[in-house]
Amino acid sequence: MLDPLFSPSTNSPVSLPDLVRRVERNLQHFGLQFPTVGESTRYVLTENKHWLSGFWTGLLWQVYAVSGQACFKDHALKLLPSFRQRLDQQIHITHDLGFLFTLSARPAWQLLGNADARELAVRGARELAARFRPAGKYIQAWGEIGSEDEGGRTIIDTMMNVHLLFWATAQTGEPHFASLARQHSDVTARYLMREDGSSYHTFFFDQHTGEPLGPQTHQGYADDSLWARGQAWAIYGFAAADAWCDAAVYRDVAYRAALRFMAELPADGVPTWDLRLPDDAPSYPDTSAGAIAAAGMFRLANRLTGEHQTTIRSHAETLLRTLIHTSFETLHDAQGLLRGGTYHAHKQQGVDAYFICGDYFFFEALLMHLGQYVDFWGPESVKLRSDPATSV
Ligand code: GLY
Repeated sequence: MLDPLFSPSTNSPVSLPDLVRRVERNLQHFGLQFPTVGESTRYVLTENKHWLSGFWTGLLWQVYAVSGQACFKDHALKLLPSFRQRLDQQIHITHDLGFLFTLSARPAWQLLGNADARELAVRGARELAARFRPAGKYIQAWGEIGSEDEGGRTIIDTMMNVHLLFWATAQTGEPHFASLARQHSDVTARYLMREDGSSYHTFFFDQHTGEPLGPQTHQGYADDSLWARGQAWAIYGFAAADAWCDAAVYRDVAYRAALRFMAELPADGVPTWDLRLPDDAPSYPDTSAGAIAAAGMFRLANRLTGEHQTTIRSHAETLLRTLIHTSFETLHDAQGLLRGGTYHAHKQQGVDAYFICGDYFFFEALLMHLGQYVDFWGPESVKLRSDPATSV
């Protein structure tokens, strides 16, 4: 049995009913817009045009699944047409199609059997598959397909987007989606993961010959440093790829990435935006990296056995406990769940602020801890835990 991280008896600041009420209040605040990053105690809202849009609907679907309250499902369904519009009008379409449709349309199918939503998510997967660059066998992250400046670039974050492709094969029986996802995962394991289990943020190939050209950071401190959220994407992405493929090689990548993440955390256990910062660099926190890594490690533990399982589950619990006690937003009427996310340090966007991506994965990690999580990333049929922790 796991420690009770947030039962009333532990004086934890977190209670599930309070979280549900906070998200319910946000329904009114946000209307038909989407939260992105925080400014003080409020979220900056946009129309559905950002890579972050799916995290709000994903949170609504998770809260609906755990609470059974119709208002969350109704709101998520109201937002669904704006995801169709993203495809119809090609609004900021990148590799992030995975983030967008895995947490909006797929849950509407998975939880409600909504066939239109299923078709929409498959359509998202088709567009994502079109970004596969055959010479280098990777999915192009950004820009127009085959563009001169971006056609050769793939990034570690894409390991979260390949799950929409695996899912599309499971749904349609068309094998090419999963085949592309596997090829991309293999290339990522080979070129974006370093010997010591750490990761590069982005990597360039010659898009015409497939020749590997080398790494380049985008959101990390330097090409050879360790962008914290990228490392968290690697842990979660490879753990989920293993769930689809039952592939020890992906499990091993995720395991080594998890140990590396833990080994390079600052003394207080809260990730900085980059885990290899020189002394004179700004050391902004990035709690989203901690939340993604915690959720990824809960997933990974589920795929491991024996000592490895115990180690990784204990790391996941430690990360979650640290976030709860250092970074959970306790202000009355606050909109965010976690303080101290950092979206883009170089551009000074969303620095040391709420970050909807961190809130989503914080909630996932809490639900995983409680054994009440619904999996939108892996195979629909697989339950992540069979030994629920204490209830709240
Ligand atoms: N996928 C973009 C980011 O993590 O900032």
